[in-house]
Order: sequence, then structure tokens, then C-alpha cells
Amino acid sequence: MKKLTTFALLMVSFFAAAQQETIDQKVNALLKKMTIEEKIGQLNQYTGDNSATGPITINPNKQAEIKAGLIGSMLNVVGTKYTRQYQELAMQSRLKIPLLFGQDVIHGYKTTFPIPLAEAASWDLQAIELAARVAATEASASGIHWTFAPMVDIGRDPRWGRVMEGAGEDTYLGSKIAYARVKGFQGNKLGDLNSVMACVKHFAAYGAATGGRDYNSVDMSERMLFETYLPPFKAALDAGAATFMNSFNDINGIPATGNVHLQRDILKGKWNFQGFVVSDWGSIGEMVAHGYSKDLKAAALSAITAGSDMDMESNAYRYNLAELVKEGKVSIDLIDDAVKRILRKKYELGLFENPYKYSDDKRAEKALNNPENRKAALEVAEKSIVLLKNENQTLPLSKSLKTIAFIGPMVKEYKANMGFWSVELPDVDYDKWVVSQWDGLQNKVGKNTKLLYAKGCEVDGDNKDGFAEAVATAKQADVVILSIGERRDMSGEAKSRSDLHLPGVQEDLVKAIQATGKPVVVLVNAGRPLIFNWTADNIPAIVYTWWLGTEAGNAIANVLSGDYNPSGKLPMTFPREVGQVPIYYNHFSTGRPAPNENSTGYVSSYIDLKNSPKFPFGYGLSYTKFNYSDLKLSSAKIKSNETIKVSFQLSNVGKVAGEEVVQLYLQDKFGSVVRPVLELKDFQKVKLNAGESKTIEFTIDKEKLSLYNDKIEWVAEPGDFEVMIGASSADIKLKANFELVQ
Ligand code: GLC
Repeated sequence: MKKLTTFALLMVSFFAAAQQETIDQKVNALLKKMTIEEKIGQLNQYTGDNSATGPITINPNKQAEIKAGLIGSMLNVVGTKYTRQYQELAMQSRLKIPLLFGQDVIHGYKTTFPIPLAEAASWDLQAIELAARVAATEASASGIHWTFAPMVDIGRDPRWGRVMEGAGEDTYLGSKIAYARVKGFQGNKLGDLNSVMACVKHFAAYGAATGGRDYNSVDMSERMLFETYLPPFKAALDAGAATFMNSFNDINGIPATGNVHLQRDILKGKWNFQGFVVSDWGSIGEMVAHGYSKDLKAAALSAITAGSDMDMESNAYRYNLAELVKEGKVSIDLIDDAVKRILRKKYELGLFENPYKYSDDKRAEKALNNPENRKAALEVAEKSIVLLKNENQTLPLSKSLKTIAFIGPMVKEYKANMGFWSVELPDVDYDKWVVSQWDGLQNKVGKNTKLLYAKGCEVDGDNKDGFAEAVATAKQADVVILSIGERRDMSGEAKSRSDLHLPGVQEDLVKAIQATGKPVVVLVNAGRPLIFNWTADNIPAIVYTWWLGTEAGNAIANVLSGDYNPSGKLPMTFPREVGQVPIYYNHFSTGRPAPNENSTGYVSSYIDLKNSPKFPFGYGLSYTKFNYSDLKLSSAKIKSNETIKVSFQLSNVGKVAGEEVVQLYLQDKFGSVVRPVLELKDFQKVKLNAGESKTIEFTIDKEKLSLYNDKIEWVAEPGDFEVMIGASSADIKLKANFELVQ
């Protein structure tokens, strides 16, 4: 059997290599026919008119330029009709090179899934891959070849609005999720009808913007870059990501778009990336504003030299590259390399055989927002919800409740549940297609339960006129559910916030409702960690519902009713105050670590605030209770080429079935560089019925013990390690020690 498998694998790789050789032959043959203008055309990308996702470059001649072969790709053109129309223009060009259509399909195309940060809270890699798979199926049925996702930027600063788009603060979790998302988007292979090219972004370290202010500068050591920020990009590359997108920020004094070290040394050099790099919206031209390039021509020179293959929306390549080649400042080889990288993908997608293969009306009708996709959206949404507090068994709601008051500015919203970066589709009636939180609860409660509604207040602004009605409504109910939070345009790109408190007078509304003495459940809808200390300290039940997408209302109702037992865990630390930011769990010890959250004096702490977060990384509750016991290590001493088996018992000692995300943390007690007080090195999401127990096993190998030393070498250093099994980064259930010997 083994021989057969080996033979089969050999044959597969032989044919893949043969196919690649054919593609390379075709690319080289086509390249020979291309003029310099047509080559530069392939490096040029413009937005369509569906929805701008940045400052638009006005160019009234796009259609004529496509026919002249001067544009190689469009973004923000969605739907079979429009993509076909543009493609028909490209087929009138001399060489009939098809256009690539790119789109920000970040968390769903039509069927919209929870925002990526919420999906990360599921810690369910299969669910996350499924969400990307469904998005790819719908996008590729709508003429889209390429999604500008996954965004894999590590986000340790909730002031930065784009944390909603990533997988949170942790490098290990972020790397696993990056891999899963690329696999989901790209499917079995590029060219399959239900696959789209992934685009790993934003390369690199965009999430470390100073002050959490979008587009701001980044300055960090090479070691921090390699240890914390680059691994999710490498994981995405290992998953076969077809393209990368560079980032707006300067990093260590050089804009990422013109950064030879990032794009040539690391990405295309050390990592041997064979796909292509697209600039982020206008970022090539923005090197002038950075004060890095004197003018657009200098920017074009820096960008092409640094390895930015395609120019999104800045016109830098369009109007300067030919001259730079003529002046001998840019070698035609650089242009040819970029063109070949792009043409190779167009061949792999099968666009030369059939430029219209993804623009098929019949397929779109069946593929978009069908029951199967909505079921997937519901499942992923349920798994993304995080139960932050549940005192006095407030949740799940009793099925015998007579009257429920559902109050707050988010209750009857439709599109607000979509979150930022949902795809703006022409002529879609969101009210008919998104399940509001009100609809979801209506669908759930029996005919003997009356639902009352009051808005109470707006998301922001200081108007409290609605409070009286809200309080009066609450007084008529057995239990009150309050749905508050951010609007969908309060997190996302260019949405940095200096104040992370609940916007407006929402927390005053919580206080007014709590004063009625009724049991209160608060739902917090947001794209980032928010600060709501009074609510967290005074309300018995709190559920973080993020922005959950098309099936938001049903997912929330399933959790409130107990039909789904919440299983989410926070992928980011929630600060007590913005003054703590950046605050993250895997921090270094320092020479004066604070012994506990109340320590002051000559220790690393604040004199005016506890030293702990409001809610820690990896935290989330369940309606049941899990017990951890009987930790065993297969040995207490290992060499670097050996492994340790870690096992323990997990028991569901509660009354209902549930899923627990068990987390394996390690601390390297001493290193040639200081080490985090603990680091996530593995996790499993385990489902157990009430009363059920299971032996959970992890393997610790050299990879999990390694670090980047101060020479940026990836090494496992001998020394003492502590294994911690946690229900969160701040709730360590079991501990043991072992030694790595030479
Ligand atoms: C935006 C974003 C990027 C997106 C691109 C195209 O400015 O930074 O993530 O993919 O432009 O919309």
C-alpha cells in the first residue's frame, strides 16, 4: 500500500511540475509578444465603481485603457454582469490578456459570517476554514478571482480599528487561523470553480501602528518582527497563498511598499515566495507623503525595486515605469519578473482558456446565500459568541418566561450586524435577508412568551429621551435583554478610537435598567475590545456578540435560550482602561514583576489601576463546568530531537453538554533573550456531554521550545520549562516542569 501511495504522490508531483512547466512556457511565450506598455499594463490595477475602499484615482479612460491592454486588474467590480462587461473589453485588446477581479471578501461575500476577530474567538479552525470556503464559493460564482484576505496582522492595540479584521493578539492562534483561512479561500487548487486566490495582508506589522492610530509609523526590533508579527504571514505562505499585499505603514523608517528587506530579502528571498505582491490602495504614491520618495516617479522606482509587483490605484507604474526603463534606472528584468508572476496566476486560474468562467449567472443563482451557506453562517456565529459573565444562573433564559423586554439601539438593526468589510452588493434589501436580533428572539420564544421592545437611546450622542420608555418597558418584564455596543462603522479601516468606552449614553441606559431591579442580560456588539467596567461589575450576565453577520439574530437567540452552549474564548485582551494599552498576555516578566494585580511600590504597575486586564486572553465561560485533572508528562527531561507527551483529564461536571477550548501554555524560564511569562503553544476545542470525561493529549517538540535569539536564529535553548494547561491565559488549571537538555 505504502509503495502505491509513494508512486501516486510521485506521479501527482510529476504532473504538477509538468503543468507548471507548460504554464511557464506559455507565460514566456506571451511575454515575448508584449510591448513595454502592455507589460506595465499588467502591473496596473484600478477600482471599479461599486464601492470605493480608499481615495479614488480619477481616471475617466478606464474602459479605453482596458481595451488597449493598459490595465491588468480591477477591484470593486462585483457580480457576473459587471465582471463580464469589463472582461469583454479586455478581450478586445491586442493580446486578449484577461483581467483579474479582486475584492475584499473578508468574512463572506453575500452570506456574511462573523467578523474575523469574532471567528477567531471560536478557536475552531474547521469552522474558520468553512467560513472562508463558503465565501470563496459565493465570490467565485460572482466573477471574483481574488480576495484581499486573510488579514493576518497581529493586533495588540484595540485603539486600532482594524483589529476587527484579524485574529487577535496571539502569534500561535493567528498563524493557525491564517493557514485555515488560506486553505478555505483557495480550496483544493487554484482554477477550481469554487476557489479564489488568497491575498495575505498587510505585509508587514501594520497592526503595531504607534498609538493604535491607523496608517501610523511602526518601529520594532527585527527580533520582535520575526517572533511576533511575521509567523502568521509565513503560515499563510505555507498554506499556498497565491498573493500578498503590502502595508501602508513605514516600518523602521522605510515604507513597507518600498521595503527591500521585507519584500525581497524575506518574502521573495528567504521564504522563496513565487506569487505576486499587490500594493495596498495607493501606497506606492503615498511614499511621497511619507517623505520617502520625492515624487511619483521616485516612488515607482522604489516600489518596483523593492518587489511590489502590482500598483493598486496610485498611477505610479502607469505613468513612470516606461520612462524609468528607458533611462536605464529600472531593468526590464524587474518588470518581466513582476509580469510573469501575475500572468502565471491568470493561467493557473484558467482565465486564458475561458475568461468568463467565473461570471456564470446560473451558478451565481444557486451559490449565493443558499440554505446550506446560511446554516454554516449560523454555526460559525454561534461558536464565535463569548459568554463573559453569568451570575445567579441568569442564562440560559427559562423557557417558561412570560415577558421579555428586549431593549437597546442594536435590537432591531439589520445591516449593523454585518460589521465592517461586509461586501456592498448592489440592490440588496438587508432587512429581508439579515436576521436581526429581534427577529432571532421572535423566532425562538414560544407563543406564551411576550416580547417587548424599546430602543432606549442611539449608539452615540447624549440624548436620553428614550430612557423613560425603556425603564417602563423593563418594569413590565420578567427579564431584560439589553443590546448595545458600536455601530458597524466604528471599527474597521480608518476607525481608530482614543476612547474605548461604550459610545454615547449606553452605559447610562444600562444603569437605568439595572435600577429597576429586574434580571438583566447585556449583549455587547463590537468590532474590538471595548471598556464597560460599570456594566461588567454590576450586571449579572454579559455576552460579547461582536458583529455576527447574516444569521446574527438566530445565533444570539440560540445562545440566550441555551439551545447552543456558548464556547467562545477571547482572542484579545480586554483592558480596564485605555491607559493600559498596549496590554497583552504574553508580556515579558521585567526585573520587577508585580506579584499580583493589586501590587504597587517598586514593581511594574500603575498606582491608579489594577495591573490585570478586565478580561484576559483566552477567557470565556460556558453553561456547564469543566474539571481539569491528572496532568502527566511522558518525561521530565528531553533532548532537542525528542518530544514530550502531555496528557490530562478533562471532565464535564455540569448538567449540559458543552465545548471547552483547552489551552497549552509554556514558559521558558531563562533564555539568551528574555521570554514571555507564558506563550500559547497549542489548543484543542473539546466537546463533552454532561458527566463525560476525556484524556486530552498534546505533544511538545523542538518547534514549541524554540525562539529567535538576538541573531534572529530560530533555536531551542537548553533550560527549564513550565507547562501550563489553562482555561484561559489567566486561569491555569494544571502545571508541571521539565528540562530541555543539550
Ligand atoms: C484598503 C485596505 C486593504 C484593502 C484595499 C482594497 O485600503 O487597506 O485591506 O484590501 O484597500 O480595498
